[in-house]
Amino acid sequence: ARRVVVLISGSGSNLQALIDAQTHDRLGGEIVAVISNEHDAYGLKRAHEAGIEAVALPHREYDSRDAYDGALIKVIERHEPDLIVLAGFMRILTPRFVQRFLGRMLNIHPSLLPAYQGLNTHTRALADGVASHGCSVHFVTEELDGGPVVLQAELAVTEEDTAETLKEKVHAREHLIYPIAVQWFLQGRLQFSPEGAKMDGHLLPPHGMR
Ligand code: GAR
Repeated sequence: ARRVVVLISGSGSNLQALIDAQTHDRLGGEIVAVISNEHDAYGLKRAHEAGIEAVALPHREYDSRDAYDGALIKVIERHEPDLIVLAGFMRILTPRFVQRFLGRMLNIHPSLLPAYQGLNTHTRALADGVASHGCSVHFVTEELDGGPVVLQAELAVTEEDTAETLKEKVHAREHLIYPIAVQWFLQGRLQFSPEGAKMDGHLLPPHGMR
């Protein structure tokens, strides 16, 4: 089976969606380890409960970003993954780390990229009065939240929406699209190329599939 390592920092609801997909044979591979930079991340519990190796690797125990990423590379490589999945991993990655896994690392981001890279995406989208919002799965490159987009889910923003309701709606969409994108990758249908992401050999539009 194709091997997946998932990196988290928090609740791990996206991790749970991936675990559930695996349980129903809809992931196309096996999650062999979950690693968190926060030792008390709830997602570690989810992994443990699913019988998946759960590793806490606290960044605070390292002197520099480079030292931490070096240690992280070691732990990841021990599991010989085909794919690294960032699921709410709230760390900026060093170029060395990104280069090591280029083309086989995906991230999910709570906005319709390239809009709202970075943090507090729901609050910023609301403040701008956008009519639609959503989430994006993309390949990770050295440009923060700037790698080629693979798949997006879009939703309408209503007058009643708050940052909290948007967060909930976006999360629900994330749980739908992340397992699909991971399955595409593990089936060999998805590729990273210098010009962008490819699906079944075809270059995806700049904003991925919606
Ligand atoms: C998700 O909404 C994900 O898009 C976001 O963190 C949340 C993690 O939730 N990621 C980022 O903001 C990355 N910059 P989860 O722990 O419940 O999966």
